[in-house]
Amino acid sequence: MSPRCSWLYRLPGRALLGGIRTLPTTRCPGLHRSLTSSAHPPQICIVGSGPAGFYTAQHLLRHHTQAVVDIYEKLPVPFGLVRFGVAPDHPEVKNVINTFTQTAHSERCTFLGNVTVGRDVTIEELQTAYHAVVLSYGAEDKRLLGIPGENLPGVYSARDFVGWYNGLPDNRHLSPDFSAETAVILGQGNVALDIARILLSPIDLLKKTDITQTALDALSNSRIRKVWLVGRRGPLQVAFTIKELREMIILPGTRPANNPSDYQNLGDFIKDLPRPRKRLTELLVKAALEKPGEKEALRRSQSDREWGLRFLRSPVAVLPSEDGKKAAGIRLSVTRLEGNGENAVAVPTGETEDIPCGLILSSIGYKSVPISSSVPFLHKNGIIPNSMGRVQDAPGLYCSGWVKRGPTGVIATTMTDSFDTAQSLLEDIKSGALNYSENRLGASAIRELLLLRGIQPVSFSDWEKIDAVEAARGAEVGKPREKILDPEEMLQLVCR
Ligand SMILES: Cc1cc2nc3c(=O)[nH]c(=O)nc-3n(C[C@H](O)[C@H](O)[C@H](O)COP(=O)(O)OP(=O)(O)OC[C@H]3O[C@@H](n4cnc5c(N)ncnc54)[C@H](O)[C@@H]3O)c2cc1C
Ligand SMILES: NC(=O)c1ccc[n+]([C@@H]2O[C@H](COP(=O)([O-])OP(=O)(O)OC[C@H]3O[C@@H](n4cnc5c(N)ncnc54)[C@H](OP(=O)(O)O)[C@@H]3O)[C@@H](O)[C@H]2O)c1
Repeated sequence: MSPRCSWLYRLPGRALLGGIRTLPTTRCPGLHRSLTSSAHPPQICIVGSGPAGFYTAQHLLRHHTQAVVDIYEKLPVPFGLVRFGVAPDHPEVKNVINTFTQTAHSERCTFLGNVTVGRDVTIEELQTAYHAVVLSYGAEDKRLLGIPGENLPGVYSARDFVGWYNGLPDNRHLSPDFSAETAVILGQGNVALDIARILLSPIDLLKKTDITQTALDALSNSRIRKVWLVGRRGPLQVAFTIKELREMIILPGTRPANNPSDYQNLGDFIKDLPRPRKRLTELLVKAALEKPGEKEALRRSQSDREWGLRFLRSPVAVLPSEDGKKAAGIRLSVTRLEGNGENAVAVPTGETEDIPCGLILSSIGYKSVPISSSVPFLHKNGIIPNSMGRVQDAPGLYCSGWVKRGPTGVIATTMTDSFDTAQSLLEDIKSGALNYSENRLGASAIRELLLLRGIQPVSFSDWEKIDAVEAARGAEVGKPREKILDPEEMLQLVCR
């Protein structure tokens, strides 16, 4: 089992950073080893406990028999976007949590939640306490549209909206306005489809998921009946994938409302497309142009909710209501494409189109932010400049996941790139490029600093207590879990 060390910060007789620790270690085997081993195992810390953090840890622990890996997470709970991003009606995707839990249970792995790196502890402090620091802190911010009216009530970023229905503490008070009949989602990626599905799904389907009760109550009273997903480019450039499109097409209680003329000329292009794009386009064309069978026609005619894709439309302004107090529509610039395929660029034709709507969701991507002025950051691309995960001009610093390559790619992609980063680090250990001959105190040193700053780290066993309470609350209402929304409540639970 993993070291369960959260009680340590309450013990007397603590050694300070760089000092000699004399604490009893029987309940904390990882710490015991790091203090007594004369061989000084490599002490590595990872910032962020999403897929990138856990897959990096997994690879390091599996391929180095002595490395000690500590994972720092700003929230009291682990797993990043697997908990706060993946749609509640996709529970199978969350099974990766089982693998992450195994990693966290390794004797050589310690989870320290409720610690914001860059605020509660600096990168320099981590570099003093560890031989290597891996930055896996994801893409916490949202891309902005940069158009007038973007801040009006009724306009939400996908990041905030997804955070709201998934119980992200920061977004728990969002209270989106579902009083209008039409919603517009800007962007045509998988996040946009997730949101469309959540807005249109029959409430009885959502009730069985881990969506928050607050979201469930609000969606139960929603008047949204029509959702447009707007793309600035064409059907050959949509960013969503086939499985998610198929799910949307057969969503109970809804019917697609696509414009056949958008697809009529695609036939000539389809045969030359790469296979995944070809299959996706065939499905788009089929859904829009093929006459549905009797059963499907009946299903569609009985559905009271609609969704549709609008192409070649780029947002230019949010239109305010008469009193100017909230969004009442979106003005779109009609575009045409220059170039072909994935690289085609949308250019304005000069025409515009207005869609009246009361809810606008901007789903144009997430964005990483710099964590410290001492870490290089490419603002233009929103990534940490790196070579195979080695941060440029910063020996001992590594990065993985979305902060390494930008905010695209599924969990499997994140796994591969995290393994690559871990492999670079292991090669550096082997070649001597990463020197670990000097002892470093790792988590024990950082805990001292956190204690002095009044920060209470949450251990993995603490998280398991939170997990058990959430599961029990969920079981009472037939859900896999009822997420706790308030970090203070989480901390109170683990203090008991
Ligand atoms: C809405 C949405 C739905 C998705 N659904 C799917 C899906 O169904 N299937 C799929 O395969 N992929 C899905 N993805 C993609 C998948 O979530 C990503 O590939 C993956 O989460 C990226 O991992 P990451 O660890 O880089 O980032 P994250 O998962 O964001 O993890 C980063 C972690 O770092 C923490 N952190 C941030 N700043 C700090 C700090 N200063 N100090 C300490 N910790 C910090 C964060 O709290 C977070 O826990 C989805 C993505 C989104 C946005
Ligand atoms: N079920 C799943 O597997 C799942 C679920 C959710 C997310 N994910 C993954 O998570 C990653 C992030 O998803 P995402 O949907 O946030 O991002 P995404 O796939 O990059 O899609 C972003 C969308 O926003 C559009 N866009 C970007 N900037 C714009 C602008 N200024 N104006 C108008 N439109 C703009 C893009 O159009 P252009 O192409 O024209 O730029 C694109 O349609 C993706 O890799 C996705 O596959 C997976």
